[in-house]
Amino acid sequence: MSKLIDTYGREHRNLRVSLTDRCSLRCTYCMPNDFAAWIPNDDLLTTNELLTVIEVAVEQGINEVRLTGGEPLLRPDIVEIVDRIAGLANAPRLTLTTNGLKLKELAQPLAKAGLNRINISLDTLSRERFKKLTYRDRFDDVIEGLDAAKAAGLFPIKVNTVLLKGINDDEAPALLEWALKNEFALRFIEQMPLDAGGIWDRATMVTADEIYADLSTHYELTPVDGRGSAPAEEFYINGTQATVGIIGSVTRPFCGACDRLRLTSDGQLRSCLFSNEEVDVRKVLRDENKDEAAKRVEIAARFQKTVISKLPGHGINDPSFIAPLRPMSAIGG
Ligand code: 5AD
Ligand code: SF4
Repeated sequence: MSKLIDTYGREHRNLRVSLTDRCSLRCTYCMPNDFAAWIPNDDLLTTNELLTVIEVAVEQGINEVRLTGGEPLLRPDIVEIVDRIAGLANAPRLTLTTNGLKLKELAQPLAKAGLNRINISLDTLSRERFKKLTYRDRFDDVIEGLDAAKAAGLFPIKVNTVLLKGINDDEAPALLEWALKNEFALRFIEQMPLDAGGIWDRATMVTADEIYADLSTHYELTPVDGRGSAPAEEFYINGTQATVGIIGSVTRPFCGACDRLRLTSDGQLRSCLFSNEEVDVRKVLRDENKDEAAKRVEIAARFQKTVISKLPGHGINDPSFIAPLRPMSAIGG
């Protein structure tokens, strides 16, 4: 087994797998309401193909798999996917990022199938604002989904929030109060230049410093030591064990400790959300001139190729930065 170590010595243990680029919401910072540039169905990896890639990744030292999208719960066989990954030899820790809409039905079966943890996105406590932000009137479904995740025992339940100036940036303290009351672990994520509509603007993004300052006027925040490769800077709240996270992807990059690789739903490996290179494994999986064993050898080689090409950082703050050609919903959050 060869490990996935890049030229800067970073060992990669975490694979983010996008199961589909489709989504049931239209969060403005992700995609416009009339977004139409979907990946063709035939290009999406089948469940068998996915399992082959994940198995090869695990053999090379991946020990955590995060299922993302788009919205991963739109994949009709999501419970089977979780069940099969959880059943692999040396099964990785299995986590999932979702908008929560389908959790009411799926939280229990997913937990049973072997899902370890869950991240749910919610940006506002107002139904009206939710509708404005996502172009869909589905706030109540998210709340019911959160309750279902709790009932299914998927702890700790993390809630991801993106703040947008003039839209929901006045809600940070209220969201934290709500999260504490409901025992959710809240994390604020800086808005990144990854949206299909190209609305990101450095001048209007809410920064990690601003979020920290706002929360500090309401809560006593004490840094938690030992962040490791985690993107979030965590803080204890008011001297308790409860924490809040701030992910400063843009203003406080954490690339130096990154241990993540990505697989898009159409079978492309990426070393970074922001890289402009992809390594094709779908082509290998569908190569009629190769048997199963030869395919696995080639996929392993392509993982190594991906990791070797990884740059030291995302370069968002360089003048020459170019946003990735594909939106986050296609790459996987
Ligand atoms: N910037 C920051 N976070 C984003 N997400 C989606 N698009 C962006 C963006 N442009 C978040 C979602 C979800 C997670 C997968 O990524 O809110 O919580
Ligand atoms: Fe869907 Fe997530 Fe994008 Fe919102 S951020 S539109 S929930 S993929």
